[in-house]
Amino acid sequence: MDLQICSTKEEVAQNFALYLEHFIKHRDIVHMALSGGSTPKIVFDELSNTKKYKINWTKVYLYWGDERCVPPTDDESNYKMTVAHLLENIEIPKRNIHRILGENDPVKEAVRYGDLLTKNLPNQQKIPVFDMVILGMGEDGHTASIFPYEIELWDSKKTCEVAIHPESGQKRITITGKVINNSEWVIFLVTGAGKKDKVAEIIHKKGDYKNYPASMVKPISGNLVWYLDTEAAAKL
Ligand code: 6PG
Repeated sequence: MDLQICSTKEEVAQNFALYLEHFIKHRDIVHMALSGGSTPKIVFDELSNTKKYKINWTKVYLYWGDERCVPPTDDESNYKMTVAHLLENIEIPKRNIHRILGENDPVKEAVRYGDLLTKNLPNQQKIPVFDMVILGMGEDGHTASIFPYEIELWDSKKTCEVAIHPESGQKRITITGKVINNSEWVIFLVTGAGKKDKVAEIIHKKGDYKNYPASMVKPISGNLVWYLDTEAAAKL
């Protein structure tokens, strides 16, 4: 586990953007799963500075680790956020973008998207292998859209599951633990003081860490990097 502690969330975005530029430069193809949330939004804005980051996006195939079950025009949509903060600012072929169809029936979409991942990505033991999955973490320790109260979704045999947000009741499609831990690289992007307790519990394996889905992220490859600002890392 590699900890990259940066002074601000803007520095998290800059450091990760440099890392991603280098990561893509040295690969012919990159299958990458994106996350929703406020930290990825800042990262996407940084990556949109195409004068600063020379990235050949034609090599990059974008997927989502989770999506809200809403239309792509809805302000809740992770895809809509990604269009506004990244996709409309970079040169990436539309055929490289594989959004989760949040407007579809959730159960059917979880099956469709899982099948798409299995078809499009390399597989190991019949499980899709992403080159990189980026994840956020909620203040409750959730990651992707696997929440503590339904942590059993992490061990689902399925590639994608339907999750339900504990407060809003909003349905979401999420990739499961076996996909996340099969990824070559997993990058956590976590900022803000509200995360400091869970970050410390998870990284130090203290308290109720086993109840937090984010603590289940242990890629088989061993390639796990946390990008944190000093606020989120305050108790490390
Ligand atoms: C989502 C994200 C979710 C997010 C966390 C952290 O769809 O909301 O995938 O898992 O990463 O909720 O979000 P913040 O970075 O905004 O705290």
